Amino acid sequence: MRSPIVAGNWKMHGTRAENARLIEELLSRYPDQSAAECLVCPPFVYLQEVGRLLRDTPIGLGAQDVCAEAQGAFTGEVSAAMLKDVGCEHVIVGHSERRWVYHESDQLVARKFAAAQAKSLAPILCVGEQLSDREAGRTEEVVARQLDAVLSLCGVGALESGVIAYEPVWAIGTGHSATAEQAQQVHAFIRERIAARDAKIARAARILYGGSVKAGNAAELFAQPDVDGGLIGGASLKAEEFLAILAAAGTR
Ligand code: PGA
Repeated sequence: MRSPIVAGNWKMHGTRAENARLIEELLSRYPDQSAAECLVCPPFVYLQEVGRLLRDTPIGLGAQDVCAEAQGAFTGEVSAAMLKDVGCEHVIVGHSERRWVYHESDQLVARKFAAAQAKSLAPILCVGEQLSDREAGRTEEVVARQLDAVLSLCGVGALESGVIAYEPVWAIGTGHSATAEQAQQVHAFIRERIAARDAKIARAARILYGGSVKAGNAAELFAQPDVDGGLIGGASLKAEEFLAILAAAGTR
């Protein structure tokens, strides 16, 4: 059985004071036992401090992006080794805001995935179609292309420690989540595509759903057989909401 993950993507939000308050609220109401793994991904500048607040707690630490290069003259970039050094265990790669706002290619995302794994950081690979792709019936084609870039560069074995997040771009931050059926359909497609290379890895791979997940729709989404938790944006900034989503994943 795959253990679910609920990851909070804070995006470019928070201050030191707000972060401390959020972590305090999360920890004070954190369940004694959670069947789901939980982690938060603060902005780079807050990683170390949030990591300190989370030390010896059940909540893990992840980053929102990583440089594809190991080190050197790459002004403004942050390497996988640096993330590891400040206590990260996970890193998001290929978030749609990186792909579409900052024009990251499938190949660059694949290289970031490889760079993270080279330093034993578990990448969370985001894939997902834009509304125009879905309307044109190209959802599977787009998701396959994004996934294949990683499979070609890193091999299917890379998914043993990696996580995938299906995030339809039209559902992110819009308040309009994919329906549970829409999510399940694409998750099953992703799993089948991995299974074509390695059935065992496909069965074990955790595929999260992201895009307007809230306390109110989490249980239905997570009840789908191929949905193994969620990548949560807006709702991860509210402790009560995030913990309710975590509880929904734990009872799956
Ligand atoms: P959202 O964002 O939950 O605010 O829609 C999800 C994400 O971008 O990871």
